[in-house]
Amino acid sequence: MAQASSLGQTITVTGLTLLLAACSPATPSTNLAEAIQSCAACHGENGVPTDPTMPVIWGQNRGYLLNQLHDFKIGHRKNEIMASIVEPLSRTDMEALATHFAQQKWPAIDQAVDAKSEQVAINIIDTKQCTACHHDRFQGDTIRPRLAGQTVDYLLKTMQDFRSHERGTSLAMSSLLRDESDEDLKSLATYMASKKDAIAQK
Ligand code: HEC
Ligand code: HEC
Repeated sequence: MAQASSLGQTITVTGLTLLLAACSPATPSTNLAEAIQSCAACHGENGVPTDPTMPVIWGQNRGYLLNQLHDFKIGHRKNEIMASIVEPLSRTDMEALATHFAQQKWPAIDQAVDAKSEQVAINIIDTKQCTACHHDRFQGDTIRPRLAGQTVDYLLKTMQDFRSHERGTSLAMSSLLRDESDEDLKSLATYMASKKDAIAQK
């Protein structure tokens, strides 16, 4: 009797294990939680990137986040690290990640701007009408990224990438920054990084 009942339990447990194993591809929540956790290594546990060359993604606009993941996936935006990260992700995974990160609170990072950089930046922003697309507080919108409070080194690098067409995702951005010097881009990056009052539009 004891043997029969223990056999019965084994069968039940094995059946359940098999059932769970069969279900796991259809339950993205486990995979999603793991994927979200893996992003923290660079994009930060609490939204503050582990290094200023890494962008803030917490609180970034959803449509923009999704576009970037998609562009990394198809190689339209080139970055070796992000390409390997999005490689195994499905469209549904990327949508879930974009939704998740857009819902997080943008982290406040202290990045100061000096008076000279501020003046240079304001002049360029007025001339090039950056706020026509990124809006008055650099909060962006569905497809335009929030720039306010983004990490300074990342902003500088990605603007240099637009200028050189290394980042070829926006002809508008590449042509707007075509004639800007590194000094000008540094001033722009420092100024936009110092902004804290933007309210992100999802
Ligand atoms: C090993 C470090 C690393 C990990 C892990 C990582 N990223 Fe990134 N991510 C980067 C770097 C570096 C960039 C900037 C790429 C560039 O300069 O073009 C980036 C850029 C991005 C961008 C574009 C942001 C913008 O403002 O344009 C998004 C979105 C993004 N990552 C999402 C994710 C998600 C979601 C995960 C987890 C599934 C993740 N990343 C994991 C390093 C990482
Ligand atoms: C015509 C609309 C438009 C104007 C004007 C514009 N931008 Fe953009 N900007 C965009 C779009 C769209 C993107 C996203 C491109 C993509 O999908 O990769 C972008 C992306 C960026 C990024 C990348 C942010 C990130 O998280 O990777 C920076 C930085 C930026 N713009 C700065 C500027 C500055 C500085 C100006 C003024 C000199 C400016 N933009 C003017 C439309 C515009």
